[in-house]
Amino acid sequence: MNPSPSREPAREKVTVRTLRRMKREKRLIVCLTAYEALTARMLDASGVDVILVGDSAGMVMAGRKDTLGVTLEEMLHFTRWASQGVELALLVTDMPFLTYQVNPDEAVRNAGRLMAEGGAEAVKLEGGKHIVGTIKRLVSAGMPVMGHLGLTPQSINVFGGYMLQAVSDEEQKRLIEDARLLEEAGCFSIVLEKIPAGAAEEVTAAVEIPTIGIGAGNGCDGQILVTQDMLGLFTEFRPRFVRRYANIAEDIISAVSRYVEDVRSGSFPGPDESYDGREGQ
Ligand code: KIV
Repeated sequence: MNPSPSREPAREKVTVRTLRRMKREKRLIVCLTAYEALTARMLDASGVDVILVGDSAGMVMAGRKDTLGVTLEEMLHFTRWASQGVELALLVTDMPFLTYQVNPDEAVRNAGRLMAEGGAEAVKLEGGKHIVGTIKRLVSAGMPVMGHLGLTPQSINVFGGYMLQAVSDEEQKRLIEDARLLEEAGCFSIVLEKIPAGAAEEVTAAVEIPTIGIGAGNGCDGQILVTQDMLGLFTEFRPRFVRRYANIAEDIISAVSRYVEDVRSGSFPGPDESYDGREGQ
């Protein structure tokens, strides 16, 4: 007999089936973003269910003004890195702008590379009824697809800014229709970004697949944030829907400033941080 049985049930590998089951059992799904192994490993160890290699990397990591310039090669690189840190979470990766909109064949080839070469277990695409045919092709080729409706950042130039979506009754009707179409096409889940909480609740009730909210209230089946936003590491701007759990940028600036002082004053390295030639490592 195990002398110290753990009270926590052993965590299992999260799959698309797990997420469906979680919705049925009304267990909320926790998602965050990662672009490399160091962060992915910490999220995985914290019990996060889904790790998304978001194309937000273009803004957060590359310092660009939007996500449009992110390339397939960049996403392959970030996905390969993140996959090295993931053990139990489901690893989903964003298909960047222009890698799935041109035609379904290109989408299949590009999504296939993100899975076969990058190590992603699913891909995420932005859009509604216009990409239903592409989603069907991907799913029938063995690639799980997460949808993304509401504020879809790759269409920012069509919207004219990062404003709240699905505000009018007409827009909310279209949103629900789109969500149903994505479900029918085979999506295993849908991200709902920056829409009124009531609209997100209606979508969540209208589909059997889990909805994951970001700026969509607390009536979704799960939540996602950009990790660098919630840790206070990315501080260029802060949407209202971001809750800050730390102020890591401040901690880094304070630590690095102390290092700058110590090097300039000659107090680093000290004797304990130097070798005198007699000791080993
Ligand atoms: O790119 C991203 O990180 C995303 C999430 C914010 C949903 O799409």
